[in-house]
Amino acid sequence: MPIHEADRLRRLPLYLFTIIDGLKAKAIARGVDVIDLGMGNPDLPTPKHIVDELCKQAKVTENQRYSRPNGEPEQILKEAIAEWYKGRFDVDLDPKDEILPLIGSKEGVAHLSLAFLNHDDIALVPNPAYPVHFNGVIMAGGVLYNIPMTAEHNFKPDLNSLSAELVRRAKLIFISYPHNPTTAVAGKEFFEEVVAWAKDKPNIIIAHDLTYSDITFDGFRAPSILEIEGAKDLNIIEFHTLSKSYNMAGWRIGYVVGNKGILSTLAKAKSYIDFGIFRAIQLAAAKALTGPQDCVKELVETYQKRRDVLVDALNGIGWHVEKPKATFYLWAQIPPKFSALTSMEFAALLVEEAGVVLAPGTGFGEYGEGYVRFALVENEERIKMAVERIDKLLKD
Ligand SMILES: Cc1ncc(COP(=O)(O)O)c(C=O)c1O
Repeated sequence: MPIHEADRLRRLPLYLFTIIDGLKAKAIARGVDVIDLGMGNPDLPTPKHIVDELCKQAKVTENQRYSRPNGEPEQILKEAIAEWYKGRFDVDLDPKDEILPLIGSKEGVAHLSLAFLNHDDIALVPNPAYPVHFNGVIMAGGVLYNIPMTAEHNFKPDLNSLSAELVRRAKLIFISYPHNPTTAVAGKEFFEEVVAWAKDKPNIIIAHDLTYSDITFDGFRAPSILEIEGAKDLNIIEFHTLSKSYNMAGWRIGYVVGNKGILSTLAKAKSYIDFGIFRAIQLAAAKALTGPQDCVKELVETYQKRRDVLVDALNGIGWHVEKPKATFYLWAQIPPKFSALTSMEFAALLVEEAGVVLAPGTGFGEYGEGYVRFALVENEERIKMAVERIDKLLKD
């Protein structure tokens, strides 16, 4: 008799990337040189000085033991995060209780729902979204309420349209700018509105995911929600990660900062589940945050060039798109010729007929329908080649 998975797993939407991965594997088996612009998995190397620090620290016996919340390497990392936040956003954080390192921000986002949501608690999640924002709610057994986001509203949630009853039952809301997958950005005025909205809602945790703060173009600067006056007195937390800014996606290191009560509950939940982060990784991350930052500038320049190549090439073949101001993605409406297809069908066609992998919009929720997402994780030549192949498919 088969042993069935738990209901909490069965309730999760189909993970579309698994299907795309299967199609990609089949194409590779047929000998196709697949150009993979699907997953937001940085292709560039971690800067050398960070890798060197990891190698050095991995040899130290004390660093090979279990991580302890108040150990020395743990303090060094938290102080480095505080210093970085001060320098980057002019936000003061107390390393003692306003910073919690994570095994990647994805881990923290998922556990946040587990730590706070009871079965009748509502989590408000703008849609489309980075999938763990909504999947974490479902796994935790909370009630998911999708707030639709559309191009007409610049992919911003309309918080004032939420009913009083919904807001009364809500315990958590996610926001995230610069936004994955839509690439929408938000200036300080938007965060001022969110903070003003949060002021009379002491029952709701506002979780801002700031993963892409460093990958911005054309002079745009992405603010932290904690820059807004009064934000630190509310139930506001902010997730960040080293995955994208320092090409450390595989290292699994991120963090969450802000409201100490929320962080302490999240830390409590985590203490029953994990043993923290390999200390050598924590020390290398501290080095990344406090060391030279020209590597971040170079990475942004690389993405900017790739963005320009992709946008110019797509516009050149008649697929009209605009240049995103941040993130290493492009969120594009399915071209008219294929608009009868779902985003999943279109993405499958691209893998099978063109050997190009893109992420289907519905991988980010139902409001992602009609779109695909390009990730700028191949070099300029390969990006141009991908567009040439797409052009052929559009013309056939
Ligand atoms: C919006 C957003 N949040 C979180 C993450 C996960 O980051 P990490 O590698 O720190 O788990 C990603 C990764 O793509 C992301 O796009």
